[in-house]
Amino acid sequence: MVAKTMDELVSICKRRGFIFQSAELYGGLQGMYDFGPLGVELKNNLKKAWWQSMVYERDDVEGLDSSIVTHRTMLQMSGHEGTFSDPMKDCKECGHRMRADHIVDNKCDNCGSEDLTEEREFNLMFKTHIGALDDGSNLAYLRPETAQAIFGNFKNVVDSTAKTTPFGIAQIGKAFRNEITARNFIFRVREFEQMELEFFVKPGDDEKWHDYWLEQRLNWWEEQGVPKSKIHVLDVPADDLAHYSKKTYDLEYEYPHGIDEMEGIANRTDYDLGNHTKSQDELNITAKVHKNTQSTQKMALQDQETKEWYVPYVIEPSAGVERGMIAVLNEAYHVETLENGSERTVMKFKPHLAPIKAAVIPLKKNKPEIVEMCKTIKKDLQKLGLGRILYENTGNIGKAYRRHDEVGTPICITVDFETIEEEIPTVTVRDRDTMEQKRIPVSELKKYVMEYFI
Ligand code: GLY
Repeated sequence: MVAKTMDELVSICKRRGFIFQSAELYGGLQGMYDFGPLGVELKNNLKKAWWQSMVYERDDVEGLDSSIVTHRTMLQMSGHEGTFSDPMKDCKECGHRMRADHIVDNKCDNCGSEDLTEEREFNLMFKTHIGALDDGSNLAYLRPETAQAIFGNFKNVVDSTAKTTPFGIAQIGKAFRNEITARNFIFRVREFEQMELEFFVKPGDDEKWHDYWLEQRLNWWEEQGVPKSKIHVLDVPADDLAHYSKKTYDLEYEYPHGIDEMEGIANRTDYDLGNHTKSQDELNITAKVHKNTQSTQKMALQDQETKEWYVPYVIEPSAGVERGMIAVLNEAYHVETLENGSERTVMKFKPHLAPIKAAVIPLKKNKPEIVEMCKTIKKDLQKLGLGRILYENTGNIGKAYRRHDEVGTPICITVDFETIEEEIPTVTVRDRDTMEQKRIPVSELKKYVMEYFI
């Protein structure tokens, strides 16, 4: 079961503290969202799972964390300043601005008028300036993709790690696009996070690696609770390819608003490394505002056998964190009718993604021995490093179970009168999905919880 509409997800996300509209207090900032107490945990867990699979479980990938503010020349050489734009039209009737390729029947989606302007290009990059002067000479951009700094650091990483092809550089971080229309909750936003891998291979090996990464990524999404049966692989038509791509597979998920892109896996060829090696004159870039207008590095590797130099090709799996979060939330969302006819909403997150791993709940909130035992259990379990263990002292066990079902806590641990009276103390452990309860000795709790999550 999944949510029927995006509104169902929006509602639970707000109610339970996953996601809030940014600057809601002042009417909201369009296309920006804030992640609340549970959202930040879910987001971190998804990113951790990606890093685990892309970096820690491999020896052919290194990590990177680069600056968000990006040198203008970098984005000129990459082609973003010249071509990273969407077509735009305005409604002459009401002034509404739209992405031209999203317009249906050539009508304004605000007032229905057919009196629209000619199509023109709108560059999606956010501009800023560095330092105290704002005279255009110190123009910089917020990065529109994390990828460019990976290309920019290619030689640094190669020189410091002695890596050679095939190898990758992975990065997770914020990217910014001034979308003409932000929409569909956190699907199309202006500030978002990417999980990107640039995997460098020898020219000629690129198609084989492209297919390899397609399979890897589908498997990874399945491990996050997003089944392959819900992901459509689109071989992006030539007309829709990004300016750097020779071939791209889009992984499209069945979102509540329709089938749409969750991740792109592009064959970027030697486009980027090649461009960062060329001079501005070669690329016909005229706005030479920076002193250092030319890359100082040659982005090439030497074949150890033939001694020939080559510019590596790049395969790029690039996933949107927020887009992945909607898919994970949607797949986790279940409304079940219980035996007594009542309904429960339960988020069946994979345990490693659950924002709260376990809740420790006293049966009576005013009984000091019970409360103390709960606090000790929480402290001990927290040390396992699995994520958030919550001590929950609201005094109504039934309500606590429902609340934890709704936020997807896999395990609830209850301390009751028996616990403090028993010679060998035991607690009740309740499973989120089966709702089954069993008693286990406190001395075995750590092992039980460890085994549950690992
Ligand atoms: N780096 C690919 C993208 O941002 O779409």
